[in-house]
Amino acid sequence: MLILGIDTSCDDTAAAVVEDGKKIVSNIVSNQNEIHNKYGGIVPELASRRHIEMITPVVHEALVNAKTGIEDIDAIAVTYGPGLIGSLLVGVCYAKSLSYVHHIPIIAVNHLEGHICSYYLESIPEVPYLALVVSGGHTSMYRVTGTGNYFEIGRTRDDAAGEAFDKVAKLLGFGYPGGPIIDQLASKGDPQSIHFPRSFLKDSYDFSFSGVKTAVFNYVRKNLQTSKEDIAAGFQAAVIDVLVGRSIEVAKQLGIRRIALSGGVSANKGLRDAIKEKTSDEGLQVFLPSVDLCTDNAAMIASAGYYRFMKGETAAFDLNPKAYLPIGSANG
Ligand code: KG4
Ligand code: ZN
Repeated sequence: MLILGIDTSCDDTAAAVVEDGKKIVSNIVSNQNEIHNKYGGIVPELASRRHIEMITPVVHEALVNAKTGIEDIDAIAVTYGPGLIGSLLVGVCYAKSLSYVHHIPIIAVNHLEGHICSYYLESIPEVPYLALVVSGGHTSMYRVTGTGNYFEIGRTRDDAAGEAFDKVAKLLGFGYPGGPIIDQLASKGDPQSIHFPRSFLKDSYDFSFSGVKTAVFNYVRKNLQTSKEDIAAGFQAAVIDVLVGRSIEVAKQLGIRRIALSGGVSANKGLRDAIKEKTSDEGLQVFLPSVDLCTDNAAMIASAGYYRFMKGETAAFDLNPKAYLPIGSANG
């Protein structure tokens, strides 16, 4: 079963061919970093224009690299939300056109479910497990009881963790995306030298990262001479403590033995090391996608699409993108 995955939810134009939901046959990502870099964040209008230019060559390259033609594809899985509406529209329209012309079924995939399925390309955790999706647009925690069954336990009330990384990098004078830059700087700084606040909300398992971001802003204003490496290390340590601390606390509270991380921020070296160490101390199992599958890609969309397709879920031509599209249900 060959699925062509397409993702244009944000600023990466991505296409991939995946066999049986697991084997990556090709995986192409064309990022737009050089376009958005000078603005310190994504400019939605520029993102959608670039998707229009790149979608045909990227899908073509995915098929060529997979040594397959469109006629061998069994279904097209496309991200229809959440994300930037103009960006999503390009992928959804393109997928619908391919589907119409070549008579290939189409599968509508939620981008967050795609991130959750990114580790399925390598190993599938036994259920129940705790899924933490940490990206530029989201920071959410789910109890997963089966493919497609997600119960949301907490989410960010303000900035997503990746957004905080991007804003702190911008403040320090760097471009977009800021996460990998902070990651690099932090590895050369002292995480103990500056203590930034850790926000553990008392009444819920929601997250909040605007406090730590503001604390960094205020600190930088008053301490212009402090090394950027130490600021990055101190900020990153605060974010890691919250993400790792909260997921272990929730897992223990709910009696869940497995934690799985995904989304762009899960590429962070400090976070990966910390979660591995702390889960091992607690006798919990941890699942992490390989680094290139953490950030946006279409292999994860094809994988998520495979499981939906196996359940007989296909979309009609009236499929429309949705900027806001939560996953999870009260009884998941
Ligand atoms: O999952 P993703 O590619 O796109 C969204 O769905 O949002 O995540 C992008 C986010 C950006 O905020 C980026 O700065 C962050 O992931 N990111 C990182 C790292 N690599 C990417 N954050 C921290 N450390 C990294 N190594
Ligand atoms: Zn994403």
